[in-house]
Amino acid sequence: MFTTTHFCKIKLMTVASLSTIPREKMKRNEENNKSPANLKTLIAYGTCFGATAGTAEEIMKILDDEGFDVKLSNLKEERIPDISEYNLVVVDSGMEMGHWRSETEDFLKKFQKNFENKKLTLFISSLKTVEEKEGKTGLFAKIRKVWLEDKILKYYFKPITVGFFDGILDYNKMSFLTRKFMEVGFKLQLQKNGFKEVESVVYDLRNWDEIRSWARELAQRAKE
Ligand SMILES: Cc1cc2nc3c(=O)[nH]c(=O)nc-3n(C[C@H](O)[C@H](O)[C@H](O)COP(=O)(O)O)c2cc1C
Repeated sequence: MFTTTHFCKIKLMTVASLSTIPREKMKRNEENNKSPANLKTLIAYGTCFGATAGTAEEIMKILDDEGFDVKLSNLKEERIPDISEYNLVVVDSGMEMGHWRSETEDFLKKFQKNFENKKLTLFISSLKTVEEKEGKTGLFAKIRKVWLEDKILKYYFKPITVGFFDGILDYNKMSFLTRKFMEVGFKLQLQKNGFKEVESVVYDLRNWDEIRSWARELAQRAKE
């Protein structure tokens, strides 16, 4: 039986930083009539192949430019004991066989009640574009419902926005069995749909314009 641990052959570097608010950002916050406390943000993610980590970092940069004070946390490597100081919480997960990563699911369960008085947003990384490109709109809608909308219903969340992004398939980082399995599952489909390797047997499907524009909209909503 496959478990998430089998899929992760490499340990990703921790991408965690707690930024302090520079003087010009403080000034901007004052101009916007927002106290820094309103802009304290946690981005907590679970990743195996690094797509969600890279996407979360990009979102952090944009929120940072918008005056937010962001902490980025890889949930596999850091235990978050308390989220009371954050006003905005962004929870992100890579998708594997239709499942959120376990550390992200645990985080949602642990703080389910605490999210009630916070601005919450969720996003996932998968290979959604493959279905989109093949025109499987019905299947895509079903996947979105099961992976995102049902999750929100399950925990009674009221997110201010949700994101559904593309990820990475890196065959170099898979165990032998997973690689074989994923070759049957996706490789032909990727090639058939014109996706090119960014390096040998690595497909990066992320759309940075989509991610950045989502992050800008998130910033606006979080300030409302
Ligand atoms: C074992 C395995 C199973 C996967 N299952 C799915 C899937 O069911 N649907 C999908 O769209 N993507 C699937 N993917 C692709 C991942 O969603 C993609 O690699 C994503 O980038 C994972 O996020 P991460 O890079 O942050 O770990 C799978 C990937 C692996 C390795």
